[in-house]
Amino acid sequence: MGFWKNLFTGAETDTPPRDKDLSAKTLTEVSSQDRGAQIVFSTERDIDLYELEELCDAVGWARRPIRKVRKAIEHSFLVVTMWEVQGNRRRLIGFARATSDHAFNATIWDVVVHPDYQGKGFGKTLMKQLIKKLRSEDISNVTLFADPHVVDFYRNLGFMPDPEGIKGMFWYPD
Ligand SMILES: CC(C)(COP(=O)(O)OP(=O)(O)OC[C@H]1O[C@@H](n2cnc3c(N)ncnc32)[C@H](O)[C@@H]1OP(=O)(O)O)[C@@H](O)C(=O)NCCC(=O)NCCS
Repeated sequence: MGFWKNLFTGAETDTPPRDKDLSAKTLTEVSSQDRGAQIVFSTERDIDLYELEELCDAVGWARRPIRKVRKAIEHSFLVVTMWEVQGNRRRLIGFARATSDHAFNATIWDVVVHPDYQGKGFGKTLMKQLIKKLRSEDISNVTLFADPHVVDFYRNLGFMPDPEGIKGMFWYPD
């Protein structure tokens, strides 16, 4: 039941439902797929991490230890997953998460859409869902680190590289 409890739709609304309101009743079509499948979104964190790993493999990301991925998800402020649902079958086709200080700032990580579903507007919808949820928590400073080839994807969503000359800076162990 957990999954369905936290299911929400991609329909645009000014006031997004709070988690407690999310139920199977809110399941509506975001985008009709072949054979009656639906694309739905969830904030449920009880994800099959091997399915997530498969999704990340599909876009060529380097593997990360499952126990660390589990910890990262547990400690994230918000996790949004995107599923293709057909009957009682569901397939993980997108993922994004955000960490936060719960007051001012959130940073978005691990944005991914399965290659079979890319270029159809799902990445944009996934990001909009995530941002809408963050805004509903009154978080106003949303940041992310864009790989060079996706800068324009984020720019289209309103993200600015280096606003007022601010630079992201990194420290790595030697
Ligand atoms: C980046 C990613 C999430 C985009 O998802 P998507 O579903 O293909 O994107 P959408 O179809 O929603 O595209 C939305 C808009 O962004 C544009 N866009 C998509 N990918 C883009 C890219 N790499 N560069 C520039 N623009 C891009 C689309 O043309 C579309 O423009 P439009 O609104 O004017 O039509 C997806 O390609 C992906 O998972 N890539 C591999 C993982 C990755 O690199 N993640 C980002 C890590 S920082």
